[in-house]
Amino acid sequence: MNLPGKLPQILRTTLLGPPGASQAFDFSLTAPQTEVAVWLHGVGAPRDVTGCHSVACPVPFMVCVGWEEPEPELPSHNHRASLRFYERRGEKRLLGEIKLQQQSVVLTSGPRLHLYKATGCTNFYLPRLRRWARSLYAARERWKNRGSGRMEVSSLDSRCNEAIFSCPRPVVLVSTLEGDRSNLFPMNLMGPVGREYFAFALNSKNHAAPLVDQIARLAVSTVPFEKADQVRQLAKNHHVSSVDWSQLPFDTHLSRTLLIPVPEFALTVREMKIEHSYPLGSHTFFVARVVDRTLYTDAPEFHRIHGLYAGSRNA
Ligand SMILES: Cc1cc2nc3c(=O)[nH]c(=O)nc-3n(C[C@H](O)[C@H](O)[C@H](O)COP(=O)(O)O)c2cc1C
Repeated sequence: MNLPGKLPQILRTTLLGPPGASQAFDFSLTAPQTEVAVWLHGVGAPRDVTGCHSVACPVPFMVCVGWEEPEPELPSHNHRASLRFYERRGEKRLLGEIKLQQQSVVLTSGPRLHLYKATGCTNFYLPRLRRWARSLYAARERWKNRGSGRMEVSSLDSRCNEAIFSCPRPVVLVSTLEGDRSNLFPMNLMGPVGREYFAFALNSKNHAAPLVDQIARLAVSTVPFEKADQVRQLAKNHHVSSVDWSQLPFDTHLSRTLLIPVPEFALTVREMKIEHSYPLGSHTFFVARVVDRTLYTDAPEFHRIHGLYAGSRNA
């Protein structure tokens, strides 16, 4: 074995993590996931928000937390809070914390939606040395890419992405159709934010975001893990303004209420109408009311976590 030749690779893996660890890790899980709990701290008593929060924008990193019940008295407008991520099993490790500052409140006929911007983030599931090494490495990469025209992702935004994806998140297929305009694409920056409300984020530069905004009606299908390859391949549709449904590698049928084509392998279909949309940064944040939900088959779903957390789970 040529140890000196392999030294840079060994050093890199020790400091930054195994190659490919920055990518997403896909797996199958029964929904709703029970592996990681998400708690909001700083607004009254700590509150389990696992089932009522969503990413609102990745750059700058923003989250939305829904309050169905009356809120406690808020410390102030623009108050500070934090999201904490805990493993539910074993040692119940604190995996990470995102520090937040409230930006605004979106009123709906159901929950009040609090929009928070990240002000700090620590991923405790990574050893301290690796956290520092990754920050230094990210700073070096940003310096190398300066002036390249690529979207600048701050170290804070990257760390928030690593934290939010310590909680397994389903990957769904979104379909929308009106006249000769339609689309079908995968999405995972999303979540329920109330009993009948759902929120999600779409890259404002891609075609999918303005199309969803204009049509304002969509069907969100959860999918079995066995279809993960087909689902990932539809990512290119984020860049198109219409799809040819006859070219899809699977059949579709119409959703029950809004009559939007959904994949024949959909497990659950939520049909929604957009009520609000806000350009926040890299992404447009959408708030939709769920008008119907159909359960076709109860089976494990395609989920995603961050590769770094996947590595720490298996360590
Ligand atoms: C599983 C999966 C989930 C995705 N979820 C989202 C999403 O929630 N919001 C979004 O704007 N784009 C989403 N995308 C699109 C990607 O961010 C990206 O735009 C797309 O894969 C095209 O890649 P490119 O922009 O590098 O060509 C998703 C893609 C995949 C494969």
